[in-house]
Amino acid sequence: MSHSTDSEPIGVIGTGYVGLVTAAGFAELGNDVWCIDIDEAKIKGLKNGRIPIWEPGLEELVERHRARLHFSTDLADALEHARLLFVAVGTPPTYSGDADLSAVHAVVEAMPASDRHALVMKSTVPVGTGATIKRLFAEQGKGGFSYVSCPEFLKEGSAVNDFLDPDRVVIGDDGDWAGDAVVGLYAPLEAPLVRTDIKSAEMVKLASNAFLATKISFINEIANVCEETGADVVEVAKGMGLDDRIGPKFLQAGIGFGGSCFPKDVTALKQLAGNSGYHFQLLNSVIEVNELQKRRVMAKLEKHLGSLVGKEIALLGLAFKPNTDDMREASSLVLSARLQAAGSRVRAYDPVAEEEARKLIRGVDFKASAVETVEGADAVVLVTEWAEFAALDFAELASSMRGSLVIDGRNFLDPSKVREAGLTYEGIGRPALKDREPAGTT
Ligand code: UGA
Repeated sequence: MSHSTDSEPIGVIGTGYVGLVTAAGFAELGNDVWCIDIDEAKIKGLKNGRIPIWEPGLEELVERHRARLHFSTDLADALEHARLLFVAVGTPPTYSGDADLSAVHAVVEAMPASDRHALVMKSTVPVGTGATIKRLFAEQGKGGFSYVSCPEFLKEGSAVNDFLDPDRVVIGDDGDWAGDAVVGLYAPLEAPLVRTDIKSAEMVKLASNAFLATKISFINEIANVCEETGADVVEVAKGMGLDDRIGPKFLQAGIGFGGSCFPKDVTALKQLAGNSGYHFQLLNSVIEVNELQKRRVMAKLEKHLGSLVGKEIALLGLAFKPNTDDMREASSLVLSARLQAAGSRVRAYDPVAEEEARKLIRGVDFKASAVETVEGADAVVLVTEWAEFAALDFAELASSMRGSLVIDGRNFLDPSKVREAGLTYEGIGRPALKDREPAGTT
């Protein structure tokens, strides 16, 4: 990797999860980065080395490159030092399901007339946003501003590594200096590059997320059919995934996808299609399957426990996936609400997301450890596959529980270990023990 002192300085507007990882990543590549945010408290914290999100490796990276990372609330600082201004502000869903672009538009408004600067869009935006922004620039007498679409494919929990070792870099531009400069910035990563027009780059992002979400809803439906037929979805996914054309990733059945991206982007693409007069039938199903999937645990609990009134239910994991404290669209939100509506008492434990969870979940008894959560419970539901849950001593748990049911919402635990402890194991799309034929039976 190049660490030359003449590396292009850049600006990053928005110090959320994408902005900070992008800033720290480019600092690692040797670039000076001016990070701008309107949130004064956040900038003050960052100046003092406080990282507002929990992302493995990020704090260390920011610390290591403190000399190259400059934090400010004043856009002029970035404009003075950098030509390329990466935009990494939030584009949350509106009630209609369209993306809320108000933060993006505020950035566009704030730009001065210039013919030596470019906006580089990292935020996930609808197809056509680049064209709209360019028209806005022209109308506002800022036609000299360049525009590049550079979608982000980071996964929470492995974002630093995803930045430094990406599967691909996608750059959409008009073939001007700014596109060349962004290509140059990413060159040290030696990643496959797709350089294309702005609209296609915007679509690559939405279509990639929608496809991955479709893959998950697909395997979840296969899991549901496995439950009806006695097949084991873990074996099925293994058999399917070895086909190169299918691949093994994102074929883990479970209680649905969550997070800040898939639910939002699938809905945004559906809306985008609808706004252009096209009914995207498949994505409707992807969304519906996911909503129903989050609720399937209820039926599983009722099958074993009967009425859930007065039952003590222990939730292990709350974050939308492991290695993050992000609770956005987490399956635990739906589950904890449904359980309480059914009259259960809910206790829960998450190794890092408790603080975030407390902001969103009411009526739940938060515990300090998995062992404490399970004590006296009628049933345990594994919601998020944190590594520490695989190492639990199930014999110990069994002796402290009131009931004996373990529902593994992520097919993460070793069923035989759970069963050996005298507990009843139920996964997603996996047959109950009694349905299994002895190994070797043809
Ligand atoms: C996702 C994409 O994977 C990134 O490429 C993209 O950059 C990002 O959205 C974004 O648009 O910002 P992320 O939301 O961090 O990343 O999380 P994923 O690891 O993709 O997981 C999403 C959800 O799918 C989680 O709830 C996870 O539990 C679920 N999932 C994932 C499954 O249920 N099964 C699987 O096989 C994989």
